[in-house]
Amino acid sequence: MKRALLVLIALFVVLMIASPAVAAGEIKFPENFLWGAATSSYQVEGGIYGNDWAEFEKRPGVIANGDICGAACDHYNRYAEDIRLAKELNLKIFRMSIEWSRIEPADGRFDEKELAHYRAVLDEVRRSGMTPFVTIFHFCLPKWLADKGGFTNPQSHVYFERYAAHLEKNLGDQVDFWTTQNETMVYLTSGYLLGIWAPGHKNPVLFWRALGNLIRSHAKAYDAIKRNDLSDADGDGAAAAAGIVMNYGIFDPYDPDSKVNSIMADKVNYFGNHLLLDSLMGKKTRLKELEPETGERILSLPEYKNTLDFIGVNYYTRFFVRPSITKPIAGMEMFTKSRAAAHSGQPFETNEMGWLVYPEGIYRAVKAIGRYGVPIYITENGIPDKTSKKRARFIADHLGWLKKAIDEGVPVKGYIHWALTDNFEWAEGFWPRFGLYDVDYASQKRSLNEGGAFYAEVARNNGLTAPMIRSVYGPEAASDEKTRRDRLFDRNGQQAGY
Ligand code: BGC
Repeated sequence: MKRALLVLIALFVVLMIASPAVAAGEIKFPENFLWGAATSSYQVEGGIYGNDWAEFEKRPGVIANGDICGAACDHYNRYAEDIRLAKELNLKIFRMSIEWSRIEPADGRFDEKELAHYRAVLDEVRRSGMTPFVTIFHFCLPKWLADKGGFTNPQSHVYFERYAAHLEKNLGDQVDFWTTQNETMVYLTSGYLLGIWAPGHKNPVLFWRALGNLIRSHAKAYDAIKRNDLSDADGDGAAAAAGIVMNYGIFDPYDPDSKVNSIMADKVNYFGNHLLLDSLMGKKTRLKELEPETGERILSLPEYKNTLDFIGVNYYTRFFVRPSITKPIAGMEMFTKSRAAAHSGQPFETNEMGWLVYPEGIYRAVKAIGRYGVPIYITENGIPDKTSKKRARFIADHLGWLKKAIDEGVPVKGYIHWALTDNFEWAEGFWPRFGLYDVDYASQKRSLNEGGAFYAEVARNNGLTAPMIRSVYGPEAASDEKTRRDRLFDRNGQQAGY
């Protein structure tokens, strides 16, 4: 018996020495995990005047401080520098989007020069050893299409499919990862219900119509990509993968003991996080919204089924939800800011835009999305942080939770930070600073900030080493697993002073 025990111990010791076990106090991500940073065309390129956002900005008061996007970060001219900066962060993924109004400035007229520009950008990304992750639609429509009603136009899916097919035919040899749309539900809610983004509608009928057309557009674009995909850009034996990017919000009941609050939170969760994906994965949707003109059941057509090779998850924040009679359309209120504190009596942490900082949410998000059974990429996660004093902690906290989900079997393949550089933050203009690089808009000078330097180390080490953990959580945390876990997992982002 004693002998058997000794053999067992010896075997264990040998195994420990032989296996590339993670050193105590490290957070190591799986081999081949991909680290990246994100941009989007309108937010960084500058010089885009032919889309609906450029038009929307002309309305007084819609953008904070009267900002207009204008030259933005001049990325259109400085893309080579920005790609080099991404490379210097040791990244493997460069997330970008293509500006529809550049590619197709008039209905059916495609611009060769602009196509050549994006070819050059993609070449540069690939030459730098990074994989481009390309978004086809990131919130902006060409003006000619906006004038036809944008996604409220029943033909919008035809235009979207034609545009996607053109991209795949002309750029497909350089791109293996396409995402058709960025944050479809956020785009719809902000642009068609709340009216705070282009196209500026506050109209539930238009909202539903556009939702139906966006879902159909995705499915058509997915088919167009598959149909026209003739090459395996990175030579890994796999043809282009196409997915969608969704924003996963955490929606919790304002009062967890209230049944009505819980039902409401569940409804919002379904609407914000699952309706679209259920539709695209061929699951039964809870809603059977009818297309106003034809009476067609727009959310669950068979042709939408299985049109996601992967799901891109953007994760930022958490909301508290409760019903409200003063909000007759939505019938509910959502709290993100200080009022949430009244609910729990706890000092909830918010970022500079007033969003709750809640690292555990990334774990809850991928656990929920993991149920769809396709690979997941975190396509955005980040914090507006002027001095970049809080970014390293923010990244470490979220990665700790993300790793926990991966350890539990969720197929997360990569993490893409928002954003590579500071940029134009839609209705907020230029004041929020999400970049790993600060941008001085007067000189267009980029400078690596503290959080950016930390993230470069994360990518270099494929996770967090003990000294990195120590630098964020204090000296005891790296060697003492319990202290680290306490700091990482039990505080839920409530005390760290974001
Ligand atoms: C969008 C980005 C945006 C970021 C931060 C996401 O909604 O995809 O365009 O800048 O969040 O707000």
